[in-house]
Amino acid sequence: MLDIQKIRADFPILSEKVNGKPLIYFDNGATSQKPQVVIDAEAKYYQEINANIHRGVHTLSQLATDAYEISRVKLQHHINAKFSHEVLFTSGTTHGINLVSNGFASILKPGDEVLVSSLEHHSNIVPWQMLCEKTGAILKVIPINEDGELIISEYESLLSEKTKIVTVNHISNALGVINPVKEMIAKAHAVGAAVLIDGAQAVPHLKPDVQDLDCDFYAFSGHKMCGPTGTGILYGKEEWLNKLPPYQGGGEMIKEVTFEKTTYADLPHKFEAGTPNIAGGIVLGTAVDYLNEVGFGNIQLQEKKLLEHATKRLLEIDGLRIYGNGKNKASVISFNIDGIHPYDIGSIIDKLGIAVRTGHHCAQPIMNFFCIPGTIRASFSFYNTKEEIDEMVEAVKKAKTMLS
Ligand code: ALA
Repeated sequence: MLDIQKIRADFPILSEKVNGKPLIYFDNGATSQKPQVVIDAEAKYYQEINANIHRGVHTLSQLATDAYEISRVKLQHHINAKFSHEVLFTSGTTHGINLVSNGFASILKPGDEVLVSSLEHHSNIVPWQMLCEKTGAILKVIPINEDGELIISEYESLLSEKTKIVTVNHISNALGVINPVKEMIAKAHAVGAAVLIDGAQAVPHLKPDVQDLDCDFYAFSGHKMCGPTGTGILYGKEEWLNKLPPYQGGGEMIKEVTFEKTTYADLPHKFEAGTPNIAGGIVLGTAVDYLNEVGFGNIQLQEKKLLEHATKRLLEIDGLRIYGNGKNKASVISFNIDGIHPYDIGSIIDKLGIAVRTGHHCAQPIMNFFCIPGTIRASFSFYNTKEEIDEMVEAVKKAKTMLS
């Protein structure tokens, strides 16, 4: 059992006031808050070992390089990758997905198919559309049902030997639905397709095991898992990362450069051109240590309680509809109230210190499916409490009365 008050004390921002009210932060799907250890680790790096990495013989450069590579190994163990060189530092999930979609431009032929799901964030749709435009490949879409779940029988009928890559999120950012990715990966592999999993919304809630999932790529961001913004990881199986061309050219990704020909560095450096976010990469390791200390079992228990409580309490409100009612859900609730625009509710409850996200959540196709302009999304983290949810429910009721 987590001592929530003790956990909350780790996050300085949680004792802030917003608009004169104690902050209730339910926008964890957009970004998580940061514990003091993470904030301190960022300052410590700049105060004690700031230097460029993989470049210098001097002591500071070696200390910074070691800290960066130790963090890579931490991340490798966290996701259970076979090799540390399968773990690439990126600026976030979007960077990771674009790295793979660009690489596939050298693999796809006209008429090949790319399969995305209806539940994707724009960052896992647009790069694949761009790839299809460039190569003449065809984008196919896995449909959802009224509960916001992927229709697996339709997925099966879309798969064929033409499918070259399937790309799907582990957890939907807009609805919180958890997709059956392990089963989907096995089905894609049966027709010879590669699979990329967008894990951006999964990593705050669970510890992905990339070998057990058997995914070819798994992309995620650091800032949603208590780490710094501008950090992320792309896991890729060694054979795939060897096959894909580099994404960016520059320093540190080469073996030898002449004007006639350049040869590329080995993994992971082939994909890490330029000076990276060194502090961020190191501190992402600190964030992962923090989450593992809290324990993902504890995190899931707390978040399940919050999800159940919020679902029950919100459904007390007349005219309130929750979108995404699948059996497997993370601690995310997307809802609307009949006849009221989500933005209006979001603005009123913000005045009461409550942060939620309103709008299409960068997932317009989902909103189109439900024929709505957007939703109010409350996304909970392990540091949230039932009391905060009760406050939100009262605030939503108040907003409804004002707007009806
Ligand atoms: N992708 C983030 C969200 O869902 C920003 O809010």
